[in-house]
Amino acid sequence: MSRLKIAVQKSGRLNEDSLKILKAIGISIDNGKDQLKAASSNFPLEVFYLRNGDIPQYLRDGVVDAAIIGENVLFEKGKDLKIVERLGFSKCRVSIAVPKSSAAKSLKDLEGLRIATSYPNTVNHFLNEQGITANLHIINGSVEIAPNIGLADGICDIVSSGSTLFKNGLKEIEVLLKSQAVLATSPKISKQNQEIIDKIQFRLQSVLKGRENKYVLLNVPNDKLDNIVSILPGMNSPTILPLAKEGWSSLHSVINKNDFWNVIDELKANGAEGILVCPIENMVL
Ligand code: PRP
Repeated sequence: MSRLKIAVQKSGRLNEDSLKILKAIGISIDNGKDQLKAASSNFPLEVFYLRNGDIPQYLRDGVVDAAIIGENVLFEKGKDLKIVERLGFSKCRVSIAVPKSSAAKSLKDLEGLRIATSYPNTVNHFLNEQGITANLHIINGSVEIAPNIGLADGICDIVSSGSTLFKNGLKEIEVLLKSQAVLATSPKISKQNQEIIDKIQFRLQSVLKGRENKYVLLNVPNDKLDNIVSILPGMNSPTILPLAKEGWSSLHSVINKNDFWNVIDELKANGAEGILVCPIENMVL
């Protein structure tokens, strides 16, 4: 039977959440942090733990069929590779930052300046778009200290919380791109393994959809039902069940997590009581 080879970051910020999302879609991986690969016991899949920066080439060569990888790495080294699904974790941005005292305010002000980065293709892409020439210093780690030691006038690096920039006295002046973890596939994937990816994608979509929503149950006096139903966006229409208490109903529905608090306030204001809110593990539509 065919087995899908999927690359996961060996160490770093994506590693843990990548394994967690595989678990969330029902794929158990025997723990193999120190191994190169680990097999699933309940799904035709093998995980390869690889260095982030090497993953695009492994995908291109068909050494692995798929990968969970940051969009930032694909933009830098694998623009030709196909993104199957955005996974909603490891969100960050690739930004230009300069010392707080610098006069540079945007990409345009980088003309002739020295920029330290591990993302030369990304920086060049945006500089070329605007016809700007800067001197890139390619370094592989601790990019943020480059301005302080006199190596560069600015940097291009990934920013998540912004605390690394803050600690190094740098300010972000331009966001080049936003990134999150994605599922990407090899152009050489076989038909059988593409079918496995389709199954994984289906499961991922149901988990991601579930994470976007909450399941709510509430008690409503019957004379307020129409009002309350009009507040709830619902999947199709809410479920309404009679309560043992005369004149009351229990109403069940799904609310997007972004609308959640506003909707809850409105429900309360319109007479809803005993509101229960539950997470949704999967939503198969
Ligand atoms: C990245 C990046 C910064 C830091 C930014 O490094 O190079 O150092 O994260 O995150 P923050 O805005 O939350 O402070 P990472 O920890 O991913 O390791 P790396 O040095 O191997 O890139």
